[in-house]
Amino acid sequence: MKKIWWLAPIIILLGIQLIPGNISNPPFDPVQDVAVVTAVPAEVQTILKAACYDCHSNEVKSPWYAHVAPVSWWIGNHIIEGREALNFSTFGALQPKDRSEAMEEAAEKVREGEMPLNSYVWIHSEARLSQAQRNTLLSWLDSQNAEAGGRNGESGEEDQEEKD
Ligand code: HEC
Repeated sequence: MKKIWWLAPIIILLGIQLIPGNISNPPFDPVQDVAVVTAVPAEVQTILKAACYDCHSNEVKSPWYAHVAPVSWWIGNHIIEGREALNFSTFGALQPKDRSEAMEEAAEKVREGEMPLNSYVWIHSEARLSQAQRNTLLSWLDSQNAEAGGRNGESGEEDQEEKD
């Protein structure tokens, strides 16, 4: 009886490749892209593409290793959840009120340092925003929110304020 136990992990790794990770770009109408339906300055567009589009658009760029399970499951989930939360490729389909809210939420996430996701920034150095880039992005997000009517409704989330 040969010692073939070491084959087990290899077989498992090969086996799980049969379960795909859903990293694909659905067809979309480029006319609905945020850059078409709102005025996005070139420098802001560069930041969005480098730091957000890989999870919040239908123009996801994925390196080869992103397609290897189990990494593909993990990344695929980020993309599915990211698109659900905010999709810059279909931004034009949102009502003005929802656009404004999305911008407000995005500003909040960037301000709190929650977006782009840390795990993404570790691997994609171009998504590591400098202070200047953050400010550029934030002032654009804020201006979009104000232009669309500022704070809509009372969707106020007081997340942390309550503690202590
Ligand atoms: C690596 C993938 C990834 C990148 C890159 C990324 N996000 Fe996200 N984003 C997610 C995921 C996953 C969620 C949903 C889960 C969550 O809220 O953490 C999300 C949620 C959000 C939400 C909704 C939050 C909520 O509470 O509903 C906003 C707004 C957002 N992201 C903005 C951005 C912006 C702006 C950028 C670029 C500066 C960005 N994200 C970059 C993965 C990503």
